[in-house]
This record gives sequence, C-alpha cells and structure tokens, in this order.
Amino acid sequence: MAQSPTDFYDSIIGLIESRRDTAEADVQSFFNRPMSEQELVEWLSFQAYYELRAAQFIGRWLADTPERDALVLLAQQVEDEAMHYEYCMRALDKRGVTSLDRWKPEPEWEEWIDGWYPSGIDTLERVAAHNVTGEVGACQAFYDIKPRIPDDVVKTLERIIPDELFHMKLGRQILEKYAVTDDQQERVRLRVVRTFELEEAGRVAFNRRMARLGLADIGDPTPPVI
Ligand SMILES: [Fe+2]
Ligand SMILES: [Fe+2]
Repeated sequence: MAQSPTDFYDSIIGLIESRRDTAEADVQSFFNRPMSEQELVEWLSFQAYYELRAAQFIGRWLADTPERDALVLLAQQVEDEAMHYEYCMRALDKRGVTSLDRWKPEPEWEEWIDGWYPSGIDTLERVAAHNVTGEVGACQAFYDIKPRIPDDVVKTLERIIPDELFHMKLGRQILEKYAVTDDQQERVRLRVVRTFELEEAGRVAFNRRMARLGLADIGDPTPPVI
C-alpha cells in the first residue's frame, strides 16, 4: 500500500541520510586544511558547470511540465540556477578565469549531471533526483567546504544556500502532492538511490582529479567538497 505523503517524504530523506552516513564514514577523519587557490578554482569551475547545467535542463523541462504549480516553481528555479552560475563565474573572474571553455568535466560528472538529471520522464522523477537528492547533497557540501574557503567565496555560498533550500522545499512539495501511488513512490525511490550512487562516483572523481593535478594525495582521506 502507498505511504501517506509525509511518511513517504520522511522515508526518502531517511534513506538519503543513512546512505550518506555510511559513505561519510570513509572520510570522517579528514583534516580541515584551507583550499589552495588552484583547488578553489577547480571547485568553483565544477560548481559553475553544475549550476549552468541545472539552469539548462530545468529550463528544458518547462516545455513538458503539465502541473501548474510545478511550472511556476521550476521557472523560478531556472532563474536561481542561472544566477548561481553567474555568482560562481564572478568568483572565477576575480581569479583570472573568465570562461569554462578550457575546463573539461570528468566522465562521471557528465553521466550524473548531463545524462542522469535530465533523464527523468516526468516532473516527479526529475524532482526526486535533482531537487530532493541532489540539492540536499549540494547543500551539505557547501556547509562542509565553508571553513576551507576565502571570505568572498563564503559570501557567494551565502547567497546561493537560501535558494537551494527553497529548491529542496519545492521538491518536497511536489513529492508530497504527486507521489501518491505505489508505482509513483517506487519510481521516486529508484531515482533517489541511483542519484546517490552517481553523486558518490562524482565525489570520487573530484578527489581523483585533485590527486592528478597534484592538489591532494589520493591516499589521504579528503573531505567531500562536491
Ligand atoms: Fe544552484
Ligand atoms: Fe538548486
């Protein structure tokens, strides 16, 4: 039998949190070293790419969003994500990086952000993956990274975080209203679990990239920054 909307949402959040706790057991003993300038540029570049892609794929969903409430909320989100991209690019500008043209994403990031997020067949699947799972992970990463970055980038994150909390709330609202049957709730669960796996692979890829660039030692436990 399908769960009540609030029980269902709480069970999904519980599922995400238990997965994250298990995954983070591996990185609990990290040391909080400040980010080097080059690592910061790498992280901002990743974040700018993620924000830009979010604005683009959510924008494409608007052509195919029959729910009137979801249409308005997602349209607002497109503007937010575009602004987040702009804020990250301004932080990069200050560090002499004016475009992402020469920056190439890792294959795991493309599978996760360019392939998986846009692939949901309806509003429910899309929001389950991106708003409910992805944005919770992104916000957690923002809180984790804050002690390691300079003040101007902390300010950037402080402008972004309230919007991401709104996007999570929007996800909750949509899930509670539209994930009401067994089939819908099962589809949401599958999207959540797969998103989590791809996000974890994305983090491993970030650490691998940092090691390749000589910015981290792959043998050291590294805090999750994405
Ligand atoms: Fe964002
Ligand atoms: Fe967002």
